[in-house]
Amino acid sequence: MKPKILVSRKISDGAEEILKQEFDVTLNLNDKPYPYEELIKLVNNYDGLISTSFDKLDKNFFESLTGRLKVIGHVGVGYDNINTQSAKEKNIKVSNTPNVLNDAVAEITILLILASSRRIGEAYNLVKTNTWKDHRPDITKLMVGNEITGKTLGIIGMGRIGQIVADRARAFNMKIIYFNRNKLSKDLEKDAAYYSDLKSMLPNCDYVSLHTPATPETKNIINPETLKLFPKHSVFINTSRGSTVDDDALIEALKNKKIYGAGLDVFNNEPNLDKRYLELDNCFVLPHVGSATHETRLAMSMLAVNNLKCFFSNKPLLSEVV
Ligand code: DGY
Repeated sequence: MKPKILVSRKISDGAEEILKQEFDVTLNLNDKPYPYEELIKLVNNYDGLISTSFDKLDKNFFESLTGRLKVIGHVGVGYDNINTQSAKEKNIKVSNTPNVLNDAVAEITILLILASSRRIGEAYNLVKTNTWKDHRPDITKLMVGNEITGKTLGIIGMGRIGQIVADRARAFNMKIIYFNRNKLSKDLEKDAAYYSDLKSMLPNCDYVSLHTPATPETKNIINPETLKLFPKHSVFINTSRGSTVDDDALIEALKNKKIYGAGLDVFNNEPNLDKRYLELDNCFVLPHVGSATHETRLAMSMLAVNNLKCFFSNKPLLSEVV
């Protein structure tokens, strides 16, 4: 008998086709999220689950399992929605989808750097709302922003995505500095300067881009104390997780022009982000689309499926979390 697999949301067509061939699969074709309690009840009839970041797989979820579920192939590199300790205690393997989304997230990071420096949100709205009327604008003011060429980009978390962001930024002649738990080897670091202390790096940044996972250590790493160290002209970019930011502090800094701007793809409590962000001209916001390209979403879906294939053929997982 083929293993039974539940897929909690719609994933890429190509990956769903493979699942149909290899497993006894229940797809979520209309992409309607399963309510928490319903998912718990349902998943007890399955050997494997393909999850996404919309699923809350917390301690209670794992404690409610009756023993059939053996593996979770999570579609996402971040797995802060999964209590991996509880999974381990229940002897349930969990995989994620690292690496395949690095380029897509780096692209969105560069987009946010450019958009928030060149006031693209404001400029776009001016045309889109048909309020671009002045033929003789003050050329020193109307939609005049900051150039990124030659500026310093401070990267918090110089992992795989941080390193690719650094490479893309080098194409704009940006100078790279970084804060990381460990100093990278020379070949990975290239010309970037290492700071072992975040607070020493921040005053030297024109741009600060965050690329850390959501962990207890990174929760509210952007807070009143760290924001005080950002230069007044600096821009903050976040494509990692909203939990890294103290919203009150960032909104206060943006509102009172203590920093120049922010470009945010991720938020606390998505999709119900703090609505005060929407009132700020100097904050460019996106709905968590860092990995949203056809190529990357297919690669993420395929990696989750291939992890399940490995598990059920007794091979090591390709990207095991626990
Ligand atoms: C990830 O994979 O963690 C991205 O943020 C998409 O959810």
